Amino acid sequence: MSLDALEGWLREEDASRLEHLWREADAVRRANVGDEVHLRGLLEISNYCARECGYCGIRHSNKKLARYRMSADEILDGARLAEKYGYGTVVVQGGEDYGIEREWLAGIIRRIKAETKVAVTLSLGERPDEDLRSWREAGADRYLLRFETSDPEVYARIHPALGARPSDRLAILKRLSEMGYETGGGVMVGIPGQTYASLARDITIFRECDFDMVGVGPYIVHPDTPLGRGEWSAPAAPENQVPNTETMTCKVVALTRIVCPEANLPSTTALATVDKNHGREHGLQRGANVVMPNLTPLKYRCLYEIYPAKAGTEVASDAFRSDLVGRLEQMGRVPGKGQGGRRRRDTSTGPAPH
Ligand code: 5AD
Repeated sequence: MSLDALEGWLREEDASRLEHLWREADAVRRANVGDEVHLRGLLEISNYCARECGYCGIRHSNKKLARYRMSADEILDGARLAEKYGYGTVVVQGGEDYGIEREWLAGIIRRIKAETKVAVTLSLGERPDEDLRSWREAGADRYLLRFETSDPEVYARIHPALGARPSDRLAILKRLSEMGYETGGGVMVGIPGQTYASLARDITIFRECDFDMVGVGPYIVHPDTPLGRGEWSAPAAPENQVPNTETMTCKVVALTRIVCPEANLPSTTALATVDKNHGREHGLQRGANVVMPNLTPLKYRCLYEIYPAKAGTEVASDAFRSDLVGRLEQMGRVPGKGQGGRRRRDTSTGPAPH
């Protein structure tokens, strides 16, 4: 799909034409990754962060937030819980926290891999290559690092560098892939200053980078951040500014599925947060094939406030798990088996049906 066609779809508001987009994305999803929905248990292991991202509630200088870091045993328990519920993956996410030391985490990853069958996905920010390499050697399978926007000016305005090191997430993603990680990129939808043209470009970058996973969620205003206070924002002209709505996020998920047919795409917590009734289902019906139930102990979960009123406040339990599976089955979907890594289409048998 051309940039112009992508931008045209992002600007589309006709309900019946959008129905056509949802149906197309759903058909491409079924033909390429099937009806399985892979469940990833999410562990938010630390809300310390060295960075000052202008939109994020756990940014370093937010003094209103009490900080926590989970212990090795708590992380191990979380991974065992993921395995017990049949989630094929544990996602170890946190701020860019240098209190998470390279060797300490490498030891935990080795234990998870030795003691459970779950895949390990990391999402810990722009760590130096030595850290990323050591964690990969310890057995980590995947790494998530959204590049947030491909517009260099918007990116630079909301991502202050850490010391002298430039922030270049696309370069880090490339190196992650060379290290043998499955890599996940992604963006927020509706960042002040984000234009339709730049969002269309983001979607073409998903395809060019051949990401194994792409995470897309709406930007949500956090009042205790510069962007939330209106300080660092420079919105685009009204006719060019992307809104941070549920429907706009669904358009991006659907178009991403069409251009990256075999990628694993989550229906994100942020999407469920902006529409508590339909967000998660719409994501799954419009291209997504992954859900990330939260396994973080509740005493910490309320402190992992990257944005306010985050969805997913339910305790991890057998009841929650069966309720979720029931909802998936009502949509004609089934919980994924195994680790749910990227499966590449066998290209020797001719073109894909789409
Ligand atoms: N609104 C929406 N998403 C956010 N993230 C961080 N802060 C916010 C916010 N205010 C997302 C970013 C980051 C991911 C872990 O969470 O995209 O990459």
